Amino acid sequence: MFQISEMTAKRGAGLAPMAGVTDAAMRLLCREQGTAWAVSEMLSAKGWVFSGGRNRNAVDLLKRLDGEGPAGLQLFGSEPAYMAEAARQLEDVGFDFIDINFGCPAPKITGNGEGSAMLRNPEGVAAVVRATVDATRLPVTVKIRSGWDDESVNAPEIARICQDSGARAVAVHARTRMQQYSGTADWRVIERVKRAVDIPVLGNGDVRSGADALRMLEETGCDGVIVGRAAQGNPWIFREIAAALRGETAAPPTPVERAEMALRHFELEVRLFGEKRGVLEMRKHIAWYVHGMKGASRFRDRINLLGSAEEVRDALMAFAASQECGFSAPETWPEKPNQTEKTQSKRMQAQGSEKRQEEA
Ligand SMILES: Cc1cc2nc3c(=O)[nH]c(=O)nc-3n(C[C@H](O)[C@H](O)[C@H](O)COP(=O)(O)O)c2cc1C
Repeated sequence: MFQISEMTAKRGAGLAPMAGVTDAAMRLLCREQGTAWAVSEMLSAKGWVFSGGRNRNAVDLLKRLDGEGPAGLQLFGSEPAYMAEAARQLEDVGFDFIDINFGCPAPKITGNGEGSAMLRNPEGVAAVVRATVDATRLPVTVKIRSGWDDESVNAPEIARICQDSGARAVAVHARTRMQQYSGTADWRVIERVKRAVDIPVLGNGDVRSGADALRMLEETGCDGVIVGRAAQGNPWIFREIAAALRGETAAPPTPVERAEMALRHFELEVRLFGEKRGVLEMRKHIAWYVHGMKGASRFRDRINLLGSAEEVRDALMAFAASQECGFSAPETWPEKPNQTEKTQSKRMQAQGSEKRQEEA
């Protein structure tokens, strides 16, 4: 059973929640490289309750794999009753804690008063956290941003409210909502939050290496860090951070290891979601894995045209072999897709997005 205190005692790093990224496959691969815990993609509490548990995307989001280690299920919402009901209904689906999202900056979320819009609604924060905590035996954690904008940096106040309402840890993405993902994270806010509360504080924003993680821990006094974008196509970031915490340096993955990890990731996605969705989901991951490698851009173009698992598998294996031999890419790949392929690919992409819209 996951204990917040155990997690922080390790002073380790966790995988930050990322919609469209931190599914069970991603969490497992990061766990194997040393993440201490992970958080799922965000799920709308209200959407879940209204769908009666029948929304296919939501059901996929709840899938877990053996060996993933501790993982939190992230819920978002502004209405205490729906948050409580979702937490109650989802208590036994296999997650170790519930994480509440008070940080999402997307207009379609904030427009409903959810995500980071809650930073402007301290009473709502208290009510949502309290209702969720009371509804489940699982520990409840919260993820916030620095504040709504530069004029209203209130993370310390919001964190204290979360603590007083029963939250067991608070993660702070040190950017305001208005910053979205631009500029640099102001880690001084994490330090202020740490001084304001007694529960564990997890720092977040711009940790891209083991050295960054160490620096964030030292500069802010936070109890752990969570890593988002630097883990995309790079589960080894957790190996690097673990080594840095031991005062060591981890060897970076070789190009062959990266191509092989992409292949493994692909097999897990297909196992979880089936061939069609697995192929579509993997396009972005593959682009991240091969970024900067020899022949990467041509390979990416090629992958985006492939529709079957067998084709993707073959292409990944050929790419891995090409890295091993030092070829830039198999010569049989066209420089540019021909028209038929382009049309087929566009149709497939459109079908994919239509399907997801239907399901949403
Ligand atoms: C593609 C993407 C999806 C994200 N989805 C979520 C989400 O579902 N819930 C959440 O709390 N934060 C989400 N975030 C924010 C990250 O958890 C993290 O706070 C942010 O990326 C800053 O950390 P980083 O600099 O390590 O990437 C997302 C970020 C990205 C890039």
